[in-house]
Amino acid sequence: MTTGSQKTQADLTRDELAALYRIDEFESLAKSRLSEMAYAYFAGGSGRERTLTRNQEAWEAISVWYRVMVDVSSRSMATTLFNEPLRVPLLAAPTALHKMAHPEGECATRRACSTAGIGMVLSSLSTTSVEEVCAAATGPVYLQLYLGRDRGLLKELVLRAQNAGCVGFQLTVDSPIWGLRSREMRTGFRIPEGLEIANLKRPGAEVDRDHSGVGICSALGWTISPSVSWKDLEWLCEQTPLPVLAKGVCRADDALTALRAGARGIVVSNHGGRQLDGAPPTAEVLPRIAEAVAHRVPVIVDGGIRSGVDIFRALALGATAVQVGRPILWGLSVAGEAGVARVIEILAGDLDRTMALSGCPSVSAITRDLLGPGR
Ligand SMILES: Cc1cc2nc3c(=O)[nH]c(=O)nc-3n(C[C@H](O)[C@H](O)[C@H](O)COP(=O)(O)O)c2cc1C
Repeated sequence: MTTGSQKTQADLTRDELAALYRIDEFESLAKSRLSEMAYAYFAGGSGRERTLTRNQEAWEAISVWYRVMVDVSSRSMATTLFNEPLRVPLLAAPTALHKMAHPEGECATRRACSTAGIGMVLSSLSTTSVEEVCAAATGPVYLQLYLGRDRGLLKELVLRAQNAGCVGFQLTVDSPIWGLRSREMRTGFRIPEGLEIANLKRPGAEVDRDHSGVGICSALGWTISPSVSWKDLEWLCEQTPLPVLAKGVCRADDALTALRAGARGIVVSNHGGRQLDGAPPTAEVLPRIAEAVAHRVPVIVDGGIRSGVDIFRALALGATAVQVGRPILWGLSVAGEAGVARVIEILAGDLDRTMALSGCPSVSAITRDLLGPGR
């Protein structure tokens, strides 16, 4: 099956995947295989895309002042998040519409995450239902939520996710309205025929909402609401015993307010440069938020992380774990589950190598002083 968003090319073979070593190589290949509209949707940012660009640059600008002559013959990247073991402190960030990248969509992503022992955050705007994704493999799945106007639908979705086996939620707090994404507008973004926003369909309903508009504002505008406030986070936390993390925080004071409202974790994120263009890169924000939160709850970060060295930098700046968005989509686009698996393997291999070369046998040894004096 093709969805009109991929050109009809076979998935890369295992040998072809094994010859890829960097995430940017995946992006070029994905670009050549996706339709112009699908690539623009996945790759694009908002405004002049300054935050999108600066996210990556900010990680790359941080030097690692490696430590020598430490016995690193035995190393582990293992950690835990809300008592769930992760083999690598890594999660797939919530990104919408995986079937636009590959016909097997979110289930392929889930299987690859599960095999690699990392977490997956499923977007509420996924093309596969939370039940199907949870059933596709084992390992922790979080569900991302937006607070739209329909609280009944949201309540149902929270219950569905709990029953399906999700271990927590990420409430996206950076999207009262959508950022202006000109690449999407120019390529006439619309949800391809045959795909549906599976989680936002009431069971039994044929078509619950219209997703047929052009541009993200008309296709998905109803899923968010400009009236959301901290009270709504409080309300959500009251609906579930599972941890709710606030995703999209870029200020220490907001992080602390989120905790007071009931959040049990913070995701430092600017939505991969897709919302406020001009927002600071997450590498700049993370240390301030980590300091304010002071290990009381997990702090996760995403935005522009493209290598194991970047993951190392984030951990050294106080992150409990990191999320990657587009790299997963590039892997999915070129080879479905095997492509995502290779992307994770590259990131994990690079983190392991960085740990060895900087004298860190375990994640807890990755401390701030490894980023040099003055950091
Ligand atoms: C194509 C695409 C779709 C996304 N969809 C969602 C979404 O549905 N919900 C959400 O909270 N964040 C969404 N995000 C933001 C990601 O969760 C994450 O914050 C961002 O991708 C991280 O940056 P990176 O892509 O540079 O790794 C999306 C990002 C992309 C690129």
